[in-house]
Amino acid sequence: MERIQVAIEKARKSRDGSQEPKTVNMREKTKPSEKRAAPETVTSDESALDALWKEVPSLQPDAKRLHRNRILAYRSCPEAAPYDMMRTKLVQQLRKNDWRRVAITSDAAGSGKTMTALNLAFSLARQSDLRIMVVDLDMRRPSMVRILGIQKHVQFSEALEERDPPEEHLIRYGRNLVFALNSGSARHSAELLQGITASRVLDDLEARYAPDVMIFDTPPLSSSDDTLAFLDQIDCALLLVEAEKTRASDVDKCEQELAARTNVIGVVLNKCRYLERSEAYGYYGAT
Ligand SMILES: Nc1ncnc2c1ncn2[C@@H]1O[C@H](COP(=O)(O)OP(=O)(O)OP(=O)(O)O)[C@@H](O)[C@H]1O
Ligand SMILES: [Mg+2]
Repeated sequence: MERIQVAIEKARKSRDGSQEPKTVNMREKTKPSEKRAAPETVTSDESALDALWKEVPSLQPDAKRLHRNRILAYRSCPEAAPYDMMRTKLVQQLRKNDWRRVAITSDAAGSGKTMTALNLAFSLARQSDLRIMVVDLDMRRPSMVRILGIQKHVQFSEALEERDPPEEHLIRYGRNLVFALNSGSARHSAELLQGITASRVLDDLEARYAPDVMIFDTPPLSSSDDTLAFLDQIDCALLLVEAEKTRASDVDKCEQELAARTNVIGVVLNKCRYLERSEAYGYYGAT
C-alpha cells in the first residue's frame, strides 16, 4: 500500500528544529473566492460580552478524564506544545484573513479530529484575550460529551433546528471557552447542516457571542456528505492525516475536494511515530 511518505517528508522539511507540531503546512488562503460575510457582532461592549459568556453554565474539567482521553492542552506542558504551535499559526492566519470559523476535517474515521479539536480549543483558551466556541457537528456519532464527561443532557442539534434556544445547550469551561454539544445523535444531519435554519442559528450565535475562533468538529469526509454540506459556512478547514494509514493519493484528493469549497488552512500529520527519540516527537499525548 502506498503510504504517506510524501506528507512525512514534507513534515520533516517543514520542521525548523523546534518541537514538532506535525502541521505539514499552515498556508495562505488557497481559495481566492468570495469571503464568507461574517455576521455583524451585536454584543459589542466587552463587559456585556463578558457577562453574556458568564451566563453560560460552567463545568470544571475532570483532569483525570481529560488525560485518559489524551486531552492535555488545558494546561501548559510539553504535550501541549504541538497544539500551542498549531494555535499560534492558526490565530495568525485567522487574524490576517479576518476569519473565525475553522472546520477540523479528515478523509477517514479515527484520524484524531475530535482529539485535535479539543486540544486546540483548550490551548486557545489559555490565551486569555481570546474567546473560543467549539461546535460538535459530528451529529451522527457525537463524542465530545463523553470525552469531556458532561452529565447534563445537551442537544445543540435542537438549537440548529430552532426548537430550543442555543443557550440551553451551551457549556462553558473557564472564562472564555464555550462548547455547543450533543449528548445523542441527530437524524438527517446533512440536510440539517445544509438548511437555512442552521445557518441562521450559527450566524446569530456568532453575532451574539462574538467568539474570536469557532472550531467545528466534523464527521469524516468519506463517511457522509455532512461536512461537504457545511463547508460553505466556514472560513477554512484544517485537514487531519493519520500517519502510516492515510494514502498520499487520498490526502491529495481530499485536499482538492476541500480546496474547491473552502480555504485549506493546513494539513496536520497525526499519530506520527516514525521519528528518532532525539527529535522529541511521537504520538500527541502519549503520556
Ligand atoms: N496523536 C494521537 N496519538 C495517540 N492516539 C490518538 C492520537 N490522536 C487520536 N488518537 C486516538 O485515536 C482515536 C480516534 O481519535 P478521535 O476520536 O479524535 O478521531 P476522529 O477523527 O474524531 O474519529 P471519528 O472520525 O470517528 O470522529 C481516539 O482513541 C484517540 O484518543
Ligand atoms: Mg470525531
